[in-house]
Amino acid sequence: MKKKKDNQRLNAKLDLRRHFLRRYPPRSVFDACCGEGVVWSQLRGEFPRLRYWGVDKKRRPGRLAIDSIRILSQPGWDFDVVDVDTYGSPWEHWLAILPRVRAPLTVFLTWGLGMRGTASNHSNTFISALGLRFSRDLPRRLLNTAVNATWERVLWRAVDHGLHIVEAQEMVTAGVQATARYLGIRLELQAAPESEAALDAARKETHELLS
Ligand SMILES: C[S@@+](CC[C@H](N)C(=O)[O-])C[C@H]1O[C@@H](n2cnc3c(N)ncnc32)[C@H](O)[C@@H]1O
Repeated sequence: MKKKKDNQRLNAKLDLRRHFLRRYPPRSVFDACCGEGVVWSQLRGEFPRLRYWGVDKKRRPGRLAIDSIRILSQPGWDFDVVDVDTYGSPWEHWLAILPRVRAPLTVFLTWGLGMRGTASNHSNTFISALGLRFSRDLPRRLLNTAVNATWERVLWRAVDHGLHIVEAQEMVTAGVQATARYLGIRLELQAAPESEAALDAARKETHELLS
């Protein structure tokens, strides 16, 4: 039974990635949280021309052990796809990626929700990217409610970096308790700086794409 659920989750991840790979064919992929490499060993079989680099913060023979946020924070990388399959919080990666984007980019984000289906381990960077300010520590449940109501704001940060979200998809697994959210985002460069009205329109569009 457990195996079936795991497969459903794996299939959801694979289908989300296949959708974007077919729609926006990439040349290179950076797998920022490669783990055992299950997802991309399958996809590399299906999309054999891809250049692939996978890292993980956990040491293992044959791969670089590094916090991938450090790589993504550097200028000059030119991946067409960045996959952040953390199962923890992907938002620090996302915020590191945005200022470095110089060409259209597909980003996959896995946001771990834990067994209760609610993400609860929020970094200060994430909370402040949501624009949430508290004068003192909030009870965890209250903080989670605030995060649930506002988390999409962190996606809109793309607009602050001259980027346009041209497609955003979330893959859901019917009949399986959600332990993570699986997101795919396509970013393109905006031609000109955005006015406030255009910014609002972009935010609304992102909200609609995800709902
Ligand atoms: C769900 S597993 C990834 C599974 C993988 N996509 C696969 O197909 O096998 C999550 C992995 O992310 C790694 N990870 C989490 N945060 C990371 C970071 N900041 N830098 C590098 N690796 C990270 C963890 O060590 C763990 O191995």
